[in-house]
Amino acid sequence: MVQGSSTLDRVLVLEMVRVTEAAAIAASRLTGRGDEKAADAAAAEAMHLAFNDLYMDGTIVIGEGEQDEAPILYKGEKVGNAIGSGPRIDIALDPLEGTTITAKAGPNALTVLAIAEEGGLLNAPEVYMEKLAVGPGYPDGVINLDKSVRENVEAVAAAKGVDPHEIIVCVLDRPRHEKLIAELRAIGCGVMLIPDGDIAGVIATTDPETGIDIYMGSGGAPEGVLACAALRCVGGQFKGRLLFRNDDERLRARKWGITDMDRIYDLNDLARGDCIFAATGVTDGSLLGGVKRLPGGKLTTQSVVMRASTGTVRWVKGEHRVDRKPV
Ligand code: FBP
Repeated sequence: MVQGSSTLDRVLVLEMVRVTEAAAIAASRLTGRGDEKAADAAAAEAMHLAFNDLYMDGTIVIGEGEQDEAPILYKGEKVGNAIGSGPRIDIALDPLEGTTITAKAGPNALTVLAIAEEGGLLNAPEVYMEKLAVGPGYPDGVINLDKSVRENVEAVAAAKGVDPHEIIVCVLDRPRHEKLIAELRAIGCGVMLIPDGDIAGVIATTDPETGIDIYMGSGGAPEGVLACAALRCVGGQFKGRLLFRNDDERLRARKWGITDMDRIYDLNDLARGDCIFAATGVTDGSLLGGVKRLPGGKLTTQSVVMRASTGTVRWVKGEHRVDRKPV
């Protein structure tokens, strides 16, 4: 937030966890059931209901797609129970980051959201983004999207004080990354391939326990904004460039106010001012444990919520009683 402003009331910090918890619990009922769409729909519905319970005049800037593509949580939808009177808040969300992972009960599925003051989050179109990220502690500008893969790895290795072959790079396991992976292997780096979930992949660079030094490769642009909201809170550097496969994608970008199609975005271009990031694990992962069902109708959740202006990070363990209230 702009220092001194109170639009992002601190009460909202914990309210955000309620929202991601509700979505995670709903999605977890479909973990391993082989139906990505049903899991995503359940998470979206629960998130939508939880948002509409909150005192805010919220606008979704990153959601489930455009209005004609998603019945709820679409770009531009207003949510909250104080539209026109409450604090005006922009929301970026992914009710289920890792729909395929959830359907297969794999690791690292999350429910994720970020909120900021109006105008604080880039209205990213549903296109790919080339991403390059490192965690905190490196000199400014250590990563550069205009430089080669080798130059970036060497710069990070030099700043860390290790040989380039000791660097571990996280990359989405996709055929489009074959060349990138080959280049990294030629340098001698360790490549951690993830099946899905690049928000968790980017955030993993901020946690020394994951061993991941750099995140590289292309993934969804909306996920880039969500990852940046998290890095704004915990530190780190991020560079992103939108990738367009056709004119239709360029048109989508123009519609949402993007004029420079080749621009390299920095952390602060994607998530500005104060912002709050929240996530709850659906399945076990590097960032959070997943939803667990215990005997006697008890559920447990693990969430994290953080705020850029204060840098506070809260790890929240939730215990929920399904027999006492519907969740
Ligand atoms: P979903 O939330 O749609 O399951 O996205 C998973 C994800 O792996 C993202 O983390 C990533 O940004 C994107 O898909 C990559 O897209 P693609 O699967 O087309 O490579």
